[in-house]
Amino acid sequence: MADGAMKPLQVGLLGMGTVGRGTWDVLRRNEEEITRRAGRPIRITHIATRTLARAQAASRDAEGVRLDTDPQTVVDDRDVDIVVELIGGIEPAKTYVLRAIANGKHVVTANKALLAAHGNEIFAAAQKAGVMVAFEAAVAGGIPIIKALREGLTANRIEWIAGIINGTSNFILSEMRATGATFAAALKDAQARGYAETDPAFDVDGIDAAHKLTIMSAIAFGVPMQFDKAYTEGISRLAREDIRYAEELGYRIKLLGITRRSKANGRDGIELRVHPTLVPHKRLIANVEGAMNAVLVKGDAVGPTLYYGPGAGAEPTASAVIADLVDVTRMHTADPEHRVPHLAFQPDQLSDTPVLAIGDVETSYYLRMRVEDRPGVLADITRILADREISIDAMIQKEPSEGAEQTDIILLTHRSVEHRVVDAIGRIEALPTVRGKVVRIRMEELN
Ligand code: HSE
Repeated sequence: MADGAMKPLQVGLLGMGTVGRGTWDVLRRNEEEITRRAGRPIRITHIATRTLARAQAASRDAEGVRLDTDPQTVVDDRDVDIVVELIGGIEPAKTYVLRAIANGKHVVTANKALLAAHGNEIFAAAQKAGVMVAFEAAVAGGIPIIKALREGLTANRIEWIAGIINGTSNFILSEMRATGATFAAALKDAQARGYAETDPAFDVDGIDAAHKLTIMSAIAFGVPMQFDKAYTEGISRLAREDIRYAEELGYRIKLLGITRRSKANGRDGIELRVHPTLVPHKRLIANVEGAMNAVLVKGDAVGPTLYYGPGAGAEPTASAVIADLVDVTRMHTADPEHRVPHLAFQPDQLSDTPVLAIGDVETSYYLRMRVEDRPGVLADITRILADREISIDAMIQKEPSEGAEQTDIILLTHRSVEHRVVDAIGRIEALPTVRGKVVRIRMEELN
């Protein structure tokens, strides 16, 4: 290949943190192979970073790389073909992305929060300007899940997706289960290892996972981004005994992002929910431990498929960023109409299927309650459930400790609509023989 004859595609980088540095390193290290794949060299020519010293250190061996502290100089740089946005967060990232698009530049971004909240506006602007916005790195780090959903599974009617898409939460849950650590201790450990978002609430409250799930749901079902409709519940209130009891019953608790085609009151809907979930321990996804991510996708033709890998980190995320750079390099001369649509479906073919309220979602439940250990208590509880057509699948009653007059009852239910379960829980908590709150964790068989 006559490399010298080919003008390199010029990349402007916004942000030189962990992922920026990883992108720089991998592009340099694998330059020859990447050029052979892309058909043209891909060069970072302009970097904007708050800490110039870091960019200088990273690019010491590179001649002709322009360094700036102002991202606008990159998005306005006439020689830059593709802007890689690694600033994160909504503003000022949104302003720079929209400005880059308006300037006719393609954009590669790892910014899940931005796309989940403002993707519809950004894609519309990109379509109008005839440029691409690529975002493989925004979901599950190095796992090529966007490529799989948008292209590899394009023959399928996707039925559902269930993913471990926040490494920090998965690390915490793995630590709590394996070592009996408290939530707080496990979180501290995750932060020390550098997995966590700047604001740890994004990880442990399920917000980061909901951003990623919103993006996958849009691509899987051909609907707009609807982050504001996602139901989000985190792991910070999970007790160690529930992790232990779940284990005794043959389940593991994972923070899952679940999106599914569904129905409520006979009408089509889409489930979009992130919450701790009991999963049978024999499922592969239940055995994904530590900070790793995994996404299970069920297509009608292919059946279940599972994608596993690192969901964060410098080079895994750089792997996804560079895959997008190669895609854009290959496609940027193609007629915009012949490119892969941003959300996998043609922009005028998006559907308005509504996102279901969590109360209308149907799933199974783990219920734990502390009760007085005397006759009739269980009968009262099961009557409340039966009256609401909630069927019990399994039950354990823990031996009360010596001399204690209270005991824990754990019930697993068959599938039921959530609002019925919420109603039943209210009635159970009102029984004079039930102490405190009923712990409720959703359960999915994923088969
Ligand atoms: N904080 C994220 C996680 C990494 O823990 O998975 C990047 O999305």
